[in-house]
Amino acid sequence: MASLKLGDTAPNFTANSSIGIINLYEYLGDSWGILFSHPADFTPVCTTELGTAAKFKKEFDLRNVNILALSVDGVDSHLEWIKDINEVQNTFVDFPIIADEDRKVSDLYDMIHPNADNTLTVRSVFIISPDKKIKLTLTYPASTGRNFYELLRVIDSLQLTANHKVATPANWQNGENVVVSPAISTTDAKTIFSKGVEEIKPYLRMTPDPTM
Ligand code: BEZ
Repeated sequence: MASLKLGDTAPNFTANSSIGIINLYEYLGDSWGILFSHPADFTPVCTTELGTAAKFKKEFDLRNVNILALSVDGVDSHLEWIKDINEVQNTFVDFPIIADEDRKVSDLYDMIHPNADNTLTVRSVFIISPDKKIKLTLTYPASTGRNFYELLRVIDSLQLTANHKVATPANWQNGENVVVSPAISTTDAKTIFSKGVEEIKPYLRMTPDPTM
């Protein structure tokens, strides 16, 4: 399967998971989604990532994001591993972990990179919008745990830019000034953005976050 690109429709699937059989589209409903893969159960970095994801659940809920993890081990293994995660990370994993023993979902989403590892998934992230489009992809090697603050930050940017004609600059954090979309003239921008527009260069115009 060719790798998924931004703007592609997220392929639907039905798979077994730590909470039973789930269908991706039904699980996501009208929410945003994050599908993220883990190389294997009972591995140290993955344990910290899943514990962190559980601790961030409230933040994902606030943003209307349903999270869904995947590893190529089976349900029984996932359930035992979740006990460990809850214990060592002092949390409660209540989102599903797909048990992708036959690599069906991993192949569909191109999560196995054979030159990194022939059988285990890399650390892929797919952010899916409510219309089931792929909005962001990230790929990390097994040796590097992901930054969940960055996932929240990018969700904030995706949700803001989906509704307003703005883009977010480097290292932007929720609430900071944003960039006026290049497609809008400065004259139009001054009408659209009532909080003001600063023209630093004709192509670089800043405005306060329109949602604040
Ligand atoms: C880990 O999650 O710690 C891990 C998994 C596979 C390879 C290396 C590290």
